[in-house]
Amino acid sequence: MATKSQIIPANDVRSVAMAVAHLRDGRLVAVPTETVYGLAANALDNVAVQHIYTTKGRPSNNPLICHVANAEMAERYVTVCPLAKELMTKFWPGPLTLVLPYKTDSGVSKSVTAGLTTLAVRCPDSSITLDIIKSLNKPVAAPSANPSGKLSPTTAQDVAEYLAHKIPLILDGGQTTVGIESTIVSVQDDCITLLRPGSITSDEITEHTGQPVYDRNSTEITAPGQLLSHYAPKAKVRLNATNASKNEILIGFGEVSGTFNLSETGNLTEAAHNLFAYLRKADDEHIKTIAVAPIPAKGIGIAINDRLNRAAAPRNTI
Ligand code: TXA
Ligand code: MG
Repeated sequence: MATKSQIIPANDVRSVAMAVAHLRDGRLVAVPTETVYGLAANALDNVAVQHIYTTKGRPSNNPLICHVANAEMAERYVTVCPLAKELMTKFWPGPLTLVLPYKTDSGVSKSVTAGLTTLAVRCPDSSITLDIIKSLNKPVAAPSANPSGKLSPTTAQDVAEYLAHKIPLILDGGQTTVGIESTIVSVQDDCITLLRPGSITSDEITEHTGQPVYDRNSTEITAPGQLLSHYAPKAKVRLNATNASKNEILIGFGEVSGTFNLSETGNLTEAAHNLFAYLRKADDEHIKTIAVAPIPAKGIGIAINDRLNRAAAPRNTI
């Protein structure tokens, strides 16, 4: 489609108008969020949404997240129970995606939900992306802006390496702050279930709502397109390593120092921020195996371990 992507700073006065013009005309735009960069299309435009799947090489049965400007916009497309509303009020804008019953006649492209009866909604904490959604006055469907199964992009340059000749516009908002994708929970019948761990933890959600957060049975695939192998660098990944063997590069954490260290002080928030960037840096060394130090499975460490386990999983297994 496009010959070469234009990359413009997200704070450029033209950026919102240009992005909205492309989205209105059915084209895709890469946008920053606080988690990772997203590949956005007008969520009401079926052809544009299908183009997301072909551009990413994403299985058509893996649904997309619909990004909204606020809770009111979400309510046009999903049924928001009081518990879901409470979560929106507390955590939006922010890295919490809610899977809620989808209003089938609301106009969202069927390709966004991949035929499910639920729709994932999220309000990203990025002023430029919120301005775009408000100006378009429609939600945008946006998966992470990487080819399916690859590491998620945390800078505009990462997006350009993946998609430069496939999309017309990339908005550069600098390195994302959180660094890993949003927490996803489903809220149904007053029951909160964690579908993907992220920087907002189950404990935080429970603390705020007083409700338990159930863990999805990890072998159960809620969205049929969810794959075990995901976030994969080119190299193999070996976990819980304390040193590098021959043909390995070590990504350290805390006292386990490696070629790169996710956080010398053992800070899990900093480690999440650096995770994909360092996996990518290690991969750039064209080494056979990336060894990664143990990461404590508490707080955001649960989400980091989720991404690492997927990166280390046998490729294309499901
Ligand atoms: O932080 C994020 O969430 C980023 C940024 C760009 O917003 N987006 C993102 O999108 O990570 P994606 O497509 O890479 O991951 C979305 C996940 C997929 O695993 C998909 O299966 C799941 O959300 N999902 C989407 N709709 C769902 C639904 N209705 N039920 C269950 N899972 C759903
Ligand atoms: Mg993704």
